[in-house]
Amino acid sequence: MHPLLASIFIFTSTLWLSFHPNNAENDLQTYIIHVSLPEDNINFESYYRSFLPRVALHSEDDQPSRIIHSYRHVASGFSARLSSDEVKEMEKKNGFISATPQKMLALHTTHSPDFLGLQQHFGVWEESNYGRGVIIGVLDTGITPSHPSFHDNNMPPPPAKWKGKCEFSGTVTCNNKLIGARNFLGGSTDPPFDQEGHGTHTSSTAAGNFVDEANVFGNANGRSAGMAPLAHIAMYKVCALYGCPNDAILAVIDAAIDDGVDIISISIGGPYKSFYDDYTAVGSFVAMQNGISVITSVGNNGPCRATLFNEAPWTLTVGASTHDRKIIATTVLGNGESYDGQSLFQSKNFPLTLFPVVYSEETAQCEPGALKAAQVEGKIVICDSNNTLINYHGKAVKDAGGVAMILINTKVFGDTILEIAHVLPATILSFADGEKIKAYIKSSFTARAGIDFKGTKMGFNDAPSIAAFSSRGPNKLSPGILKPDIIGPGLNILAAWPFSLEDINSTFNIMSGTSMSCPHLSGIVALLKIEHPDWSPAAIKSAIMTTADQSNHEGQPILDERKFLADVLAIGSGHVNPSKASNPGLIYDINPMNYTQYLCGLGYTNMEIGFIAHQIVNCSLISSISEAELNYPSYSIILGAEIQKYTRIVTNVGDGNTTYFVSITQIPGVHTLVEPTKLVFTEVNQQARYMISFTRTGEISGHFVEGSISWISDNHVVRSPISIKCNPRTAGGVRGLATCSPIPETQKISAKEQPTLGPGTVESSVTMKLLIVTKKKRVMFAEAGKECVDFLFHILALPIGSVVRLLSTKEMVGCLGNLYESLENLYIQPNQDKDILLKPKSAQGAASVPH
Ligand SMILES: *[C@@H]1O[C@H](CO)[C@@H](O)[C@H](O)[C@H]1NC(C)=O
Ligand SMILES: *[C@@H]1O[C@H](CO)[C@@H](O)[C@H](O)[C@H]1NC(C)=O
Ligand SMILES: *[C@@H]1O[C@H](CO)[C@@H](O)[C@H](O)[C@H]1NC(C)=O
Ligand SMILES: *[C@@H]1O[C@H](CO)[C@@H](O)[C@H](O)[C@H]1NC(C)=O
Ligand SMILES: *[C@@H]1O[C@H](CO)[C@@H](O)[C@H](O)[C@H]1NC(C)=O
Repeated sequence: MHPLLASIFIFTSTLWLSFHPNNAENDLQTYIIHVSLPEDNINFESYYRSFLPRVALHSEDDQPSRIIHSYRHVASGFSARLSSDEVKEMEKKNGFISATPQKMLALHTTHSPDFLGLQQHFGVWEESNYGRGVIIGVLDTGITPSHPSFHDNNMPPPPAKWKGKCEFSGTVTCNNKLIGARNFLGGSTDPPFDQEGHGTHTSSTAAGNFVDEANVFGNANGRSAGMAPLAHIAMYKVCALYGCPNDAILAVIDAAIDDGVDIISISIGGPYKSFYDDYTAVGSFVAMQNGISVITSVGNNGPCRATLFNEAPWTLTVGASTHDRKIIATTVLGNGESYDGQSLFQSKNFPLTLFPVVYSEETAQCEPGALKAAQVEGKIVICDSNNTLINYHGKAVKDAGGVAMILINTKVFGDTILEIAHVLPATILSFADGEKIKAYIKSSFTARAGIDFKGTKMGFNDAPSIAAFSSRGPNKLSPGILKPDIIGPGLNILAAWPFSLEDINSTFNIMSGTSMSCPHLSGIVALLKIEHPDWSPAAIKSAIMTTADQSNHEGQPILDERKFLADVLAIGSGHVNPSKASNPGLIYDINPMNYTQYLCGLGYTNMEIGFIAHQIVNCSLISSISEAELNYPSYSIILGAEIQKYTRIVTNVGDGNTTYFVSITQIPGVHTLVEPTKLVFTEVNQQARYMISFTRTGEISGHFVEGSISWISDNHVVRSPISIKCNPRTAGGVRGLATCSPIPETQKISAKEQPTLGPGTVESSVTMKLLIVTKKKRVMFAEAGKECVDFLFHILALPIGSVVRLLSTKEMVGCLGNLYESLENLYIQPNQDKDILLKPKSAQGAASVPH
């Protein structure tokens, strides 16, 4: 398969469609039927068949059964192909509960072990024996069993509990690495070969064995391995090019529980109105009750807010970060400036000379067939990316006779560059660098440019940052649970690939998406399962979340695709740190029963919760709890005028005698109080509880604000992020959730221009990005007054070198004057967003604001 197609596939936005199998003449559609189970032990197959209408039963002799999947563990019911009349007939039967049409979900790596601090013969990899013997079930497009990443050298045979099947046969079949492989696509009896590449890529990221000299076109060369190189893989094929039917996902989780998997990895998602409609959430609830960890991807619909999927608190939901390897193709300009871009295909014979360069209104789009030879022949063509995920530009330039292409990222994608193999010498640049190149071209009649292909470079210490496409919170199905939970590598990940690329034989490929970050976490969970076999899925989640990194490899806060501070709605608890996760000190555990109480608290009916938990639930008989009462390792609070108080229980999994002290990053306008402030443990597995309360003390900016609470001992920092949203009903005037501010223009203003922003002067409508170079926080806090809260919150919380983002200011006076004394670099951007009003304490006499 062509690599570009592969990327498009991954990024296909997660639409779901109803699915019509090849049965148009009968107008049959696939439905998922829920039924109630009789008390007595039953034969599931015959009981489920009893719901089928006569006609459907009859036809069974001469055509495949109408029943596609029968469920046992995760649901009472089955999926079947039925006409709407047949469904109506079925509705009359005793025990029938509901019939819902099938939905289609969309699918949403060599260097990443090193990047995450996993090293051979050392630390977590050694201590966890490389995940030896853990079984990771991967739900995906199938797998390429002959791929070198799935060789079984050093692999033990599958554990005795393994009951899964292998549907490959012949010379290339399962082995001690790939211990199971089944096809769950309804109506298909083909072995689960991977026709897309996605499943081969994700499986090898989670648990690929060591392969030397893995590379693409000679780039990113190195020893390839998954996160848990000695874990077993069980592939469950649930996706094809057209998507992933949700009834199959439910059926796979059902089977995986029987088969004995330890971990389920699901790089698939879609939008849902409730948890009982979301069969990933439904299936994983029962998996969780069985001690199976379910890892999901957050989706690729970022950077807008409220775009995330897989919201259930009982799964680990993973966003995508960048890592520190880039395949560089530098743009060199006639004026001597140069800008590093990226390109997967490195043109070896491309001359290092300057060519005439073209960028004009007529050529900028580089649409297929639109470029004329007269415009581009013999030139380097600059193209504006239309949608960073769709790349027709290279072919258009090549066809029209251009010598090379410089593709400029969209504004929304900013700094997130996807490494793609283009059909001609090319490079992709960030939006900001593109603006500078365009300015040069405008300024010169004889503009020239060249591309210098520099190959793979490591050690970009601004990583990790959040990738533009990684979906963002808040959580829509459960606003009181912070999602995503964690981020891990998902941009330009090298991993196994079934096909040759561009007529060059290559068994590895670079892909991007939260689909790629999810299996990183699945592999890391496998390592933790070896080190802590007695930990529940919730305990493992807690260990990963409370130890996550907040800073990049330069020691600066994690940034987003615009080089702004990444917020908790983008990164959740932070960037995974496997070594720290293996020794977290304290854990926040959750009893499976507590999730049922939580679902009662969310207001679902007994029947709906019964679907999810697959058991009879009566919310009047169990005490329901609110979202924030769940013993979750992070906080998402919607705060009105009322004080909110919660209890959390932590379990000591570190040394016996340990004392922890609390450290709180306060949020201006909110008082976070923790009691007690000290937790003393004398034994391992001892529990302690603390009370945390949130009180409004002043104005909170209209956006989400964030802080954190950490328990600190000599050897551990156990951190929980806190996200607070003003409750619009009680706070007034706050905008709705699903807004995504347009990305502001960036322009740096020189030091000389800064005084125009001093106290008493006015700059209308600006959003600011500030680089903190000194820190006089007390002074500023005292002088600035509480209207500057958003500003000050960031400044108080961050070390020198941080980049501060002021989401929005309309009338900007006062605070800036104070800041100006402390700051050397000031970046100003036109405002797109008008929520925060900044005024100096003594604003009287300030100039009026131009409109
Ligand atoms: C470019 O994007 C616009 C807007 O999304 C879309 O209508 C158009 O079809 C795209 N052009 C191509 C060639 O895909
Ligand atoms: C790719 O591999 C096939 C089969 O091994 C071989 O026939 C072909 O020549 C190879 N192509 C290249 C470009 O090396
Ligand atoms: C969680 O479940 C356990 C066991 O049923 C129960 O003891 C505990 O009180 C529950 N936690 C909360 C917050 O209700
Ligand atoms: C749930 O429990 C309450 C209180 O015992 C009872 O009144 C109600 O009938 C029960 N509901 C169901 C559906 O069993
Ligand atoms: C912790 O300290 C107490 C009192 O000093 C002692 O009795 C106990 O054995 C210690 N526990 C551990 C696990 O070291």
